[in-house]
Amino acid sequence: MSQSGKLRKRVAVLISGRGSNMNALIEAAKDADYPAQISLVISNRPAARGLDVARSENIAAVAIDHAGFESREDFEQELHKTLLDHDIEIIACAGFMRKLTASFTRKWEGRMINIHPSLLPKYKGLNTHQRALDAGDKEHGCTVHYVTAELDSGPNIMQATVPVLPGDMPDDLAARILVQEHRIFPLSLAEVARKQT
Ligand code: GRF
Repeated sequence: MSQSGKLRKRVAVLISGRGSNMNALIEAAKDADYPAQISLVISNRPAARGLDVARSENIAAVAIDHAGFESREDFEQELHKTLLDHDIEIIACAGFMRKLTASFTRKWEGRMINIHPSLLPKYKGLNTHQRALDAGDKEHGCTVHYVTAELDSGPNIMQATVPVLPGDMPDDLAARILVQEHRIFPLSLAEVARKQT
C-alpha cells in the first residue's frame, strides 16, 4: 500500500546484464506514492550483476538460464510461470537481451514495456549508436514502448532526445542516452501503472 492507500502494481523487471535501468526503477519505487513496486527481478543470464543488486535491496531475484531449455517456448513457459507465481501485473524489460515469441508477448500485451536506446522507429535492434553516427544524425535518444510480437515496434510511451556532438563515439552517445533512460523509464512505468488502476 502507498501512503495514499492505493494498491501499487506488482512489477517484474527482466534483465540480462548490469541492470542500471532496473536500479532506476527500484530507486523510483522507494517513494511510497510511486504507483508500482518492484516485486521481482528475473535474468536469463545467471551471472547478471543486476541480480545481486536486486537481492541487496531485498527484492526476489531469479535466474532462468535460457541455455538450460530445449526451446524458446520452454524457456518462456518457465518465465510465465514464475511471473504468475509472484502475482506480477506489469513487466519492465530493462536490457533484456532475449527475443520473445508472439505467444508470450500476446499474454502480456499492454502490460509489458521495454527501454530501447534509439528514437524508434529509427534503429530497431542492436548497435543503435554506431548506426546513428554512420547516418550523420544530429539527434539521437531513447524510447520506452509497449512490447508486441514485432521487435522494438510496439506503441511508444515516452522518448528523450540528446544531441550528437562532433567527435562522438558510440560509448559517448550510450553514456549521454543512459542518463535520459534512467529519467524516462521510471516516468513511463508510473504512467503505465496509473493507467491500470
Ligand atoms: C540500455 O541501454 C537499454 O536501453 C538497452 O540495454 C541497455 C541496458 O543497460 N535495452 P542496463 O542493464 O539497464 O544498465
